[in-house]
Amino acid sequence: MKGTRPYALALTLAATWPAAGAQDAAPVPAEAGRKLYISACQRCHGINLVTSGIGFDLRTFPQAEKERFIRSVTHGLRAMPAWNGILQPEQMELIWAYIGSVNGWKPAAQ
Ligand code: HEC
Repeated sequence: MKGTRPYALALTLAATWPAAGAQDAAPVPAEAGRKLYISACQRCHGINLVTSGIGFDLRTFPQAEKERFIRSVTHGLRAMPAWNGILQPEQMELIWAYIGSVNGWKPAAQ
């Protein structure tokens, strides 16, 4: 019996470790996205997505139109520069997660 205890502990750690990571995972992309947003997007789209009047008000961007978001950010749209080659697709995903967190989107539908 004594001999099984460290083994049981290892199993417990193995079982709880990924679960703890998964719980932390939700805020982390949004936080990384927030930093990218501040450096790349905020000057036109405003602090906390509150537009300064230059860019589109991202608080009104439809959650259902993620493809449009990626397309507009990648290729630009009129006065908005293209981010292709400046931001990686994963970074656009992080910004998308940040916009969703500010707008209170339900994660399941993102
Ligand atoms: C130089 C200013 C500027 C910067 C920097 C900028 N944008 Fe824009 N953005 C605009 C303007 C202006 C529009 C409105 C374009 C239009 O509809 O004429 C816009 C529109 C948008 C739209 C709406 C596109 C659509 O399909 O209607 C999205 C989404 C967007 N920007 C995301 C971003 C993201 C994400 C970043 C940072 C990576 C960013 N923008 C950086 C100026 C900017």
